[in-house]
Amino acid sequence: KMSGETEKAMEKLQKSGHLVLVMFPFQGHITPMLQLAAILHSQGFSITIVHPEVNSPNPSNHPEFTFIPIPDKLTESEISDRDLANFALRVNNNCAAPFQECMKRIMHQKDSHDHISSILYDTFMYCAQTVADDLSLPGISVRTSVAASLLLYPVLPHLDRKDSFSANEVPEFQSLQLQQNRALLSQNSTDAVTEVRVAFTNGVKSSSAIIVNTMDFLEQAVLSKIKEYFPAPIFTVGPFHKLAQTICSSLRTEDANCISWLNKQAPKSVIYVSFGSLASIDEQELIETAWGLADSKQPFLWVVRPGLIRGSEWIESLPNGLQESVGERGYISKWVPQKEVLAHAAVGGFWSHCGWNSTIESICEGVPMLCKPFFGDQFLNSNYICQVWKIGLKLQDTFERGNIEAAIKRLMVDMEGEEMRKNAMDLKEKAELRLSQGGSSWSSLNEFTKQILL
Ligand code: UDX
Repeated sequence: KMSGETEKAMEKLQKSGHLVLVMFPFQGHITPMLQLAAILHSQGFSITIVHPEVNSPNPSNHPEFTFIPIPDKLTESEISDRDLANFALRVNNNCAAPFQECMKRIMHQKDSHDHISSILYDTFMYCAQTVADDLSLPGISVRTSVAASLLLYPVLPHLDRKDSFSANEVPEFQSLQLQQNRALLSQNSTDAVTEVRVAFTNGVKSSSAIIVNTMDFLEQAVLSKIKEYFPAPIFTVGPFHKLAQTICSSLRTEDANCISWLNKQAPKSVIYVSFGSLASIDEQELIETAWGLADSKQPFLWVVRPGLIRGSEWIESLPNGLQESVGERGYISKWVPQKEVLAHAAVGGFWSHCGWNSTIESICEGVPMLCKPFFGDQFLNSNYICQVWKIGLKLQDTFERGNIEAAIKRLMVDMEGEEMRKNAMDLKEKAELRLSQGGSSWSSLNEFTKQILL
C-alpha cells in the first residue's frame, strides 16, 4: 500500500507530469533522447516528442509517447550537406516558428491534465529555449554528449587569456588538451560555426536545468568547472541506455546475423570497427583499413554503413584479393545492434570514431578502444579515453595499413592492451555501482524529478 506521502507525490505527478522533448535529427542524438524519454516515462511523466520531419523516428516503436513532427523546410541538398553547423543553423531557424505554434496548440488543448511542466531540448535545438522563455515555461537543456563539451564553446575563445580559464588548473584539463582542441575546432570556423556556438551556449545559460548523459566520476573536475559557467543545476543522469528499458531507435535495419558470426569466435578475440552515423572516409582510406584489418590477423566485425565512403555506394572498391586473405575471419555489415555487439563475450576491442554514444556504450561493457576521432566532441572523447581514463590508444597519423595493423595488435594482443582492458573493466564496475538503486545516476534522476515537480 502506498504511503500518504507517495500518494500525494503520485497525484502531483499526474497533474503536472507532462513533458515535451525536442529532438535534434541525427541518430547519435535521437537515440539518447528516446532513452531519456523512456526513463522519464518510467518515472510517471507523460511524454510528447517534437521533432523536425527529417530523420523521423518511427512512432510505432514507441506507442507510449506522442510524436509531433514539425516542418523543417529542408531541401534534399540541405539534408545531405555535410556541414553540420549549417545544418544546425537551418534546422533551428526553420523550426523555431512552427515549434512555437505547436506548443501553443498543445497548451490550449482542453485536456487540462495536460499541463506542461517543462520543455526538454537537445542542446543543439537551442531554438526551443527561446520558445520556452517566450511561453514562460522552464527550458531544460539536454546534452547528449560528454559534459566537457559544454566547456568548449564558452571557454575556448578565452583559453589564452591569463585571467580566465587555466588549462593547467586541474591535471584532467591538461590531459584533455583543450588548447589543441580549440585549434582543431577553429580550423574550420565559419560564420555558421560561430553562430551555432553562441546560440548553443546562450541556450544552456538560460536553461532552468541541464541534464547530461554522463556519470559524475567520469568527469568530476570538469563538472565542477562547468558549474562556474552555467547557473542552472546539472544532473548527470547517464548513461541513459542503461537506465532506459530497451528501446528501438535505429534509423537503419540492424543485421542480426553478425551475432551468429560472433558466437563462433573465441572470447575477446574480435575487434569491432564502426565510425558511427555521420563520419565519412575516402576510397583509399577504406582500402587501407581493409588491409590493416586483414594483416592484423585478428577476427574483425566491421560496420561499413552505406554513405561511409565518399563517392561509393558501399564496398565495391574493395580489392578482390581481400576476401581470399580474410576468409571467415572478417564480417562486414551495413549496420549492427551495437550495444549487443559490445556486450558479446567475443569482442575484445572497439576501433571507434569516439562519438559519445559509442564511447559510453563501450565503457559500460568494459571494452577498450582504438580511437580515430573525426570531428567535434570526438577529439575530446578520445583524449578522455586515452589520457584520462587510459582505456584506449590513439590511431596515430593517417589511415595507413601498417599503422592500423600495429595499433590493432597493441590493443588486442600486447600487454599494453591488457592494461587498458583492466582499466576498462574497472570503469564498467564503477558504472554498475552508479546504476544500482541508490547509485548517483538514480539519485540525480530523483533530484531532477523533484525539481520539475516543484
Ligand atoms: C554524433 C557525433 O558524431 C558525435 O560526436 C556525438 O557525440 C553524437 O552524435 P554518431 O556519429 O552518431 O554521433 O556516433 P555515436 O554518438 O557513437 O552514436 C552512434 C549510435 O549508433 C550509437 O548509439 C551506436 O550504438 C549506434 N550504432 C552504430 C548502431 O546501433 N549500429 C551500428 O552499426 C553503428
